[in-house]
Amino acid sequence: MTLDTRHLTADAEGYAQASRVWRAGGLVAFPTETVYGLGADARNDMAVARIFEAKGRPRFNPLIVHVPDTEAAKALVEWSDAAEILASAFWPGALTLVLPIKDDAGLSPLVTAELPTLAVRVPAHPVAQSLVRVFGGPVAAPSANPSGRISPTEAAHVAAGLSGRIEAIVDGGACDVGLESTILGLDGAPVLLRPGGIPAEAIEAALGTSLARHVEGGTLTAPGQMTSHYAPGAAVRLNATEVGADEVLLGFGPMESDLNLSPSGDLVEAAANLFGYLHRLDAANVGGIAVAPIPDSGLGRAINDRLRRAAAPRDVIV
Ligand code: TXA
Ligand code: MG
Repeated sequence: MTLDTRHLTADAEGYAQASRVWRAGGLVAFPTETVYGLGADARNDMAVARIFEAKGRPRFNPLIVHVPDTEAAKALVEWSDAAEILASAFWPGALTLVLPIKDDAGLSPLVTAELPTLAVRVPAHPVAQSLVRVFGGPVAAPSANPSGRISPTEAAHVAAGLSGRIEAIVDGGACDVGLESTILGLDGAPVLLRPGGIPAEAIEAALGTSLARHVEGGTLTAPGQMTSHYAPGAAVRLNATEVGADEVLLGFGPMESDLNLSPSGDLVEAAANLFGYLHRLDAANVGGIAVAPIPDSGLGRAINDRLRRAAAPRDVIV
C-alpha cells in the first residue's frame, strides 16, 4: 500500500498533527541534532513493527527510544552512577546510553529485539524536544533511511528514501551534527558500541576511565556493526591520494577537490557535511567516490567509521 506522505511544519500545528499520527500507530520522521529519525509510539507493537517494515530493517536490530529528559529515561532503564555522570554532561545531546531495561518499562518487546537492555537518548533539537513533549510518551526512532543506505540529514533525504511508506515528515531543516549519536554500553564496564556525535575522548574525560571498544566480528550488538552500512550507490575508496578517471574526489582540508567536507580541516564541519555530500554524489550517479584522508581523532573517528562502512563490499548488506 502506498501512503500519501504528508509534509508537516515545525510549529504547534505540525506537532499536534504528528502527535495524532503517533497516537494512531503511524510513522512520522522528524529532525534531531544528529540525523532525522523515523518515529513511532514505542509502546505500540504494531507501530514499532511498521518501522522495521518501512525501513526494510532486520527485526533483530533494536531501536533507540527518545525521551524528553533524564527523568523520563529513568522510568525506562535501571539507572547507575555512570549514567548519571554522562546524562548530566551530555544530555540533551548526541549520546545514547544502553542500560538494563526495567520490567515495567511498558515498551513493545520489538523495540529491544527482546534484549535485556534498552538504548535511550534525550535529543537536543528543539523540534525533537517539542514533538516528544507534545506526544507525551517514549518515541522509538532509528535513522529515517531505508536499511543499509545513507542516513538523512535533511527532510528531502527522508522523502527520497521513504515517501509512500510513512505517514508524515516534519521538516526542521538540516541537522547540525550530521552523524548519528555515540552509543555507549553501560550494562557492565562502559563500552563504545558506535562512535558518533559525541567524541569518545569527551566521554572518557567525563568518566575518568578509558572505554572498551566493541570488538568487530564479536556478537552483533549495534548494527552500525554490520559491515556494509551507510552505502551510497557508487563505489567508495578511502585515503585516496590521487583520483581515477571516472571518480570524483571528496576532499578534506586545503586541496583541489570536486567537493570538500571542510576546506579548513574542521572535523565538526566535515561531520555536518558528510551524509549530505554522499546523498548529493549518490543523486549525481558519479562513477566512484575517492575520499581524502581524514584524521582519526575526535569526530574523525565517527566520520571514518561511516566511511569505512560506505566503502565495504555490498554483498553483506542486510
Ligand atoms: O543519532 C541517532 O542515534 C539517530 C537519531 C534518530 O536518534 N538514531 C539512530 O538509530 O541512529 P539507528 O537505529 O539507525 O541506530 C541505532 C543503533 C543500532 O546500531 C542498534 O543496533 C543500536 O542502536 N541499539 C539499539 N538498541 C540497542 C541495545 N539494546 N543494545 C545495543 N545496541 C542497541
Ligand atoms: Mg541507522
